[in-house]
Amino acid sequence: MREYIFPEGFLWGAATAGHQVEGNNLNSESWVLEHLPETIYAEPSGDACDHYHRYPQDIALLAELGFNAYRFSIEWARIEPEEGEFSYAELEHYRRMLAACHEHGIRPVVTFHHFTSPRWLLRAGGWLDEKTPARFARFCERATRHLGDLVGAACTFNEPNLAVLLSRLVPFDLQSGPWWDAAAQAFGVAPDQLGLFQFVTDPRMREIIIDAHRLAVDVLHGGPGDFPVGLTLALLDIQAAEGGEEQAAEIRRELSDSYLEQVRGDDFVGVQTYSRMVVGPTGVVRPGEDVEKNQMGEEFYPEALGGTIRHAAEVARVPILVTENGLATTDDSRRVEYFQRALRCVVDALEAGIDIRGYFAWSAFDNFEWVSGYRPKFGIIAVDRATQARTPKPSAHWLGEIARTNRYQG
Ligand code: BGC
Repeated sequence: MREYIFPEGFLWGAATAGHQVEGNNLNSESWVLEHLPETIYAEPSGDACDHYHRYPQDIALLAELGFNAYRFSIEWARIEPEEGEFSYAELEHYRRMLAACHEHGIRPVVTFHHFTSPRWLLRAGGWLDEKTPARFARFCERATRHLGDLVGAACTFNEPNLAVLLSRLVPFDLQSGPWWDAAAQAFGVAPDQLGLFQFVTDPRMREIIIDAHRLAVDVLHGGPGDFPVGLTLALLDIQAAEGGEEQAAEIRRELSDSYLEQVRGDDFVGVQTYSRMVVGPTGVVRPGEDVEKNQMGEEFYPEALGGTIRHAAEVARVPILVTENGLATTDDSRRVEYFQRALRCVVDALEAGIDIRGYFAWSAFDNFEWVSGYRPKFGIIAVDRATQARTPKPSAHWLGEIARTNRYQG
């Protein structure tokens, strides 16, 4: 048993994303995708957790559990529902959310883009269109002008590397087939011009998002407010099995390093880790039948976080914020074990001198897990889908206690 006291001011929180919890994000491109007859989404997001209306109680609950930070995203599709038309009312909504955080001693970590975009952006070519970095910077400028003085830290983008990562993990091509053609038609573009952030692997998109990130960093640093700015990455702990060293290095380059190198000079990088990827001489080695897995089919491997933190620190050379880490399971005792072992890795990394500023569990609530719908349970707080009643799970109390005491034993 060891005891460790975290650095003063360490951020302890849980994370969410607007579309996954707010409900009725009608002007977003995801809403359209979820309702196509050919959709690959298991179900539509609907009311989600109705966090849009219930945020006051939700933020109070997180504070009561012991957390001092909350990571959430603002929805571009609400704030700018048509190009150039900004909604003062929606900006005020997010201002009230930020104020609620401060009232409860919670530092708000705001993601400006968590996968979803307004419908109009997709009609204009989405994340494959060269004008999109300027459009995103304009949105960031307008939102920061209204909200910046209350922002505690900002993530420009959530996981711009997700699509390339998924293309290595899922055995089918998400960018083709009837659903893709129907989606392109819905936005009035050709299938090869459907610039969907979550699915497209075209290298042009990477450049466009990195450009948008750079513009947004400057805008956000311009204030009002003075807060750290970074982006978050989906990082698997990529490990080589015997003979797979070369392949693993190549995959690590493609999925992680080519992005980590781009964030040098930022205030931090957000590390988001769930599992590991083992690479042998013939490619990715899938976990065997007898291996414990999460509800997404990935190996139960909390130690992945240690590997990704070390790797991110080495390549990006900026402070680390663990902006997502967690387990999809219906057995909450496995989540506690997962957090316990993952936090041991955080402690080891801190003791090795790595500058880690905070840890956010994914997720605060059981929520809308994109194409998988509501089946995977990532939350530390359960949400009754019929009544919207919230029930903190034992893992919420367990992690909240660590947050409250800023102390780890394990
Ligand atoms: C995303 C979340 C998602 C989570 C679990 C991350 O890729 O940022 O939106 O729900 O992983 O799959």
